[in-house]
Amino acid sequence: MSEEIKKFKITIDGQTTEVLPGTSILEAARQIGGKLVPPAMCYYKPLEQSGGRCRSCLVEVSKGSEADPRPMPKLVASCRTGVMDGMEVKNLTSEKAQEGRKAVTEFLLLNHPLDCPVCDQAGECHLQDLAYEHGSENSRLDFQKNTFEADDLGPYIKLNMNRCILCARCVLVANQLTEKREHGILFRGDHAEISTNLNKVLDHDFVGNVIDVCPVGALTDRTARFSSRVWFTNPMDAHCTCEKCSGKAVLWMKGEEIVRVTARKDQYDEVQDWICNDCRFEKKDTKFWTIEGPRNIDRHSVISLNHYEKPKEYFRQLDNQDAKEISEKDVKNIENLNNEISN
Ligand code: SF4
Ligand code: SF4
Ligand code: FES
Repeated sequence: MSEEIKKFKITIDGQTTEVLPGTSILEAARQIGGKLVPPAMCYYKPLEQSGGRCRSCLVEVSKGSEADPRPMPKLVASCRTGVMDGMEVKNLTSEKAQEGRKAVTEFLLLNHPLDCPVCDQAGECHLQDLAYEHGSENSRLDFQKNTFEADDLGPYIKLNMNRCILCARCVLVANQLTEKREHGILFRGDHAEISTNLNKVLDHDFVGNVIDVCPVGALTDRTARFSSRVWFTNPMDAHCTCEKCSGKAVLWMKGEEIVRVTARKDQYDEVQDWICNDCRFEKKDTKFWTIEGPRNIDRHSVISLNHYEKPKEYFRQLDNQDAKEISEKDVKNIENLNNEISN
């Protein structure tokens, strides 16, 4: 009979759970769920060795373990710190952790351009969310920002290095999903940048997945750029017969038009099934796809605000009390938005 593995008990912001030894604090927090889950700008569960680069997931460990209850002297990156039995962690309840996250946000935004109004990632950008929660109104940078020319990484991918936060997720995708990685982080410190080796084109069948893992608008789909703001599109689950990948994707549609194709993602915006370049870039016609229905976007996102999942039915289902609280104006606004989307 196999020996049962003793689980470790961890308390985060007063909520307790049990996890297997080797679990990180961040994964333990995800097991509990809700707002206490720290943001993760570089950690990405499906990618081995991700995390430890951005420090957006900082938390305070107020009790190291049952055996050694001393607090950890500094804030720790929750994506790279393992749980100990009896550990107590503070995230939302720690002023220090919140201050730390604010400082990290300021650092990430130091050289970042004010591109949101023209950036394709707007509306689904993790840096935008982080800035909204923890950013300050003004920059304290007295020098000129670092700037780079936008670059075409082959026929499908655009690199806007100005927006890159050097999380290295795209490098890990290329390392772990493709046979020959041709890009990486060149130089160090202030000079660090994502670049292709001798400007080689990234042409592997699965390299399009770098777009999905990029937490910001540094890597965007050249076949979909500027086609539509994401909140004007309807995400639909769809599948196709594909020999290279599972063929399970999300079609971002405007009426009958497929504006872009992405992989399906979970509530932490992590890819569930990698998709190949053919599905992502070449199948922009509904004849290739079997459409399953509207995709529920789990993560807190502006995308969900367009109520693309049949708002009228939604309102009809509300009980009378709830319905009273919704003014006619709200309903009208949403109907207008719906018309705009379908036109
Ligand atoms: S990457 Fe995000 S924060 Fe930066 S410009 Fe684009 S939407 Fe705005
Ligand atoms: S390009 Fe995107 S995924 Fe790659 S390191 Fe920069 S921010 Fe991360
Ligand atoms: S998510 Fe933990 S350091 Fe980036």
